[in-house]
Amino acid sequence: MDTQTLDQQKRVIYEIAEALAPTWEQRRADVEEVSTPVRDWMLRELAPQGGDTLLELAAGIGETGFEAARIVGETGLVITTDFSPAMLEAARRRGNELGVANVDYRLMDAERIELDDDSVDGVLCRFGYMLMADPAAALAETRRVLRPSGRLTLAVWGALERNPFFAIIGISLVQHGHIPPPEPPPAPGPFSMANAERLEQLLRDAGFVEVRTEEVHGRFAIPTVDEYLSAIADTAGPIALALRGLAESDRAAVENDVEDSLRRFAAVDGYELPCVALCAVAS
Ligand SMILES: C[S@@+](CC[C@H](N)C(=O)[O-])C[C@H]1O[C@@H](n2cnc3c(N)ncnc32)[C@H](O)[C@@H]1O
Repeated sequence: MDTQTLDQQKRVIYEIAEALAPTWEQRRADVEEVSTPVRDWMLRELAPQGGDTLLELAAGIGETGFEAARIVGETGLVITTDFSPAMLEAARRRGNELGVANVDYRLMDAERIELDDDSVDGVLCRFGYMLMADPAAALAETRRVLRPSGRLTLAVWGALERNPFFAIIGISLVQHGHIPPPEPPPAPGPFSMANAERLEQLLRDAGFVEVRTEEVHGRFAIPTVDEYLSAIADTAGPIALALRGLAESDRAAVENDVEDSLRRFAAVDGYELPCVALCAVAS
């Protein structure tokens, strides 16, 4: 892909991150509730030790790394990075709130990691590589900064049709012509790395030798249709921005679709939507 297209894709992702950072911060607890099985998997497979230096890429509000900071202890360090200043500032606020002292916050593009070769013991990246314009470059950079014995753990979303939280609203917005259908990989997007074979190949091409992928399942518990729409508008990337921008008259049709589709997931206290992440450990 040419550099201009890659730059355009990166700019779109950057602007979405900047626009959504305030509501991502407000929704931190909800995001963590859904992501806890993934965070636990990533930390277990990374198995950091006291005194380790870890790097978190595309950290968002940084929650995965803060848990790792507790494990590496005061002789260790977590370098929390994101290319969005608004996300990184939100991470800094959260880190201060938690009182984690062994974290260094750095604005950084994961495709051009500003660290020396062989300088970190482990890398974490949750729901990040799939949004990068050039994930191959980011993975090669990850391998470069890892010490030879170092390990990467990552998570991306599984296929769209297995993640109804996104699919329900996404399909309705596409059907009503409010957003284009998702572009197939390699275009970046939440589902662009959902294929385990492709993910494993990308990791091997970047120089990783030991590679293992595993699906991790979770669930979104949503009390009402309104709360579903509000969670989407606060967190769900380009879908969030499209939903926020709908005219009142267009919104009613989308709400009807959502209500119909959610019925399939009715639970005692509202709705329960399954979700699937594809996780990988590589060294
Ligand atoms: C879906 S959020 C995930 C945030 C966090 N890792 C989590 O799991 O809660 C994706 C994050 O990737 C960041 N991001 C996307 N492309 C990036 C890049 N090339 N370099 C650094 N950060 C990037 C965005 O700014 C955003 O904060």
